[in-house]
Amino acid sequence: MPLILGIETSCDETGVAVVRNGREVLSNEVASQIDVHKEFGGVVPEIAARAHLETVDGQVARVMGAAGLRFDQLDGVATTGGPGLIGGVIVGVMTAKAIAAVHGIPFAAANHLEGHALTARLTDDVRFPYLLLLVSGGHCQLLVVEGVGHYTRLGTTIDDSLGEAFDKTAKMLGLGYPGGPAVEAAARTGDACRFALPRPMRGKPGCHFSFSGLKTAVRQTILGLPEGKVSERDMADLCASFQAAAGDSLADRCRHAIETVRESHPGIETLVAAGGVAANAYLRERLSELAESAGMRLVAPPQRLCTDNAVMIAWAGLERLRLGMSDGLDFAPRPRWPLDPDAPPATGAGVKA
Ligand code: KG4
Ligand code: ZN
Repeated sequence: MPLILGIETSCDETGVAVVRNGREVLSNEVASQIDVHKEFGGVVPEIAARAHLETVDGQVARVMGAAGLRFDQLDGVATTGGPGLIGGVIVGVMTAKAIAAVHGIPFAAANHLEGHALTARLTDDVRFPYLLLLVSGGHCQLLVVEGVGHYTRLGTTIDDSLGEAFDKTAKMLGLGYPGGPAVEAAARTGDACRFALPRPMRGKPGCHFSFSGLKTAVRQTILGLPEGKVSERDMADLCASFQAAAGDSLADRCRHAIETVRESHPGIETLVAAGGVAANAYLRERLSELAESAGMRLVAPPQRLCTDNAVMIAWAGLERLRLGMSDGLDFAPRPRWPLDPDAPPATGAGVKA
């Protein structure tokens, strides 16, 4: 019954969790820094790193206490080794290394994206290989998950991630940060047909994404409103129109990815959606319809495991440790860490991965 302590500090959430045998979450705490970053309309890396540093020790002590465990009872400690805001990643890596060194337990540096990618195995026991749509604040990718540490990237964004487009749309509308949940809530009462927004990349060959044009179209639409003023109705309609455009774009790209992956993996039966944007109920519904129409099933983790958390890091650590893939205490935190290092580089302004 391996007991793993997981730590996540790569962005603006300090996550600590203890997980038994991968599935049983004994204790889990996510401390959000939203209030600290709110006034800046986005995450400020230096402030994030400092906040992780102030929080993480106490949080580890609380989570261990709530689980009723001593450090020497752990079978491993896993932390996000990258990619992410490097100051925060360093805080998590140093904390985990110290625990591992003092108590002589194995250490695993997990790729944050692998944490998102493998969560569906924790929640739904999904078998390899599967098709993964990874949609978060920093990334928007389609990958074939062949096994632990083994990914084939089919597509990525050539500019913004979808999470960024949600966050910027929210900012333009004065909805605050983080934008995804606010846009989703406002869209609920909106008319998705009122504003004709573009469906980026729809019908184009391949599986790449693009969202900067959609973001610009939202800005133009706002400027086109009488006196540039956004009423409650405009807000709801614009959020609903934005979400519909994002949904059409995702569905089109996933349809292409399913066609592509079936050539190399004819038996593939699961589409997994993961990352913060996969918490969006409307987009989950759209992806579920698409998967069904293609004879596949959609698996999307519960919303609290879509956004950043340490349970997914403990799980990714366990997956690695049980394959003997532990890391040395000389592991260097990585600001960039692509899941598929062999993927041909995507070109476009602002390509991130
Ligand atoms: O995975 P995540 O927590 O952090 C990264 O690894 O980036 O994703 C954060 C992103 C943010 O852009 C946030 O606005 C978006 O996920 N998000 C959502 C929703 N909840 C979070 N986007 C759309 N709808 C949501 N309900
Ligand atoms: Zn994430």
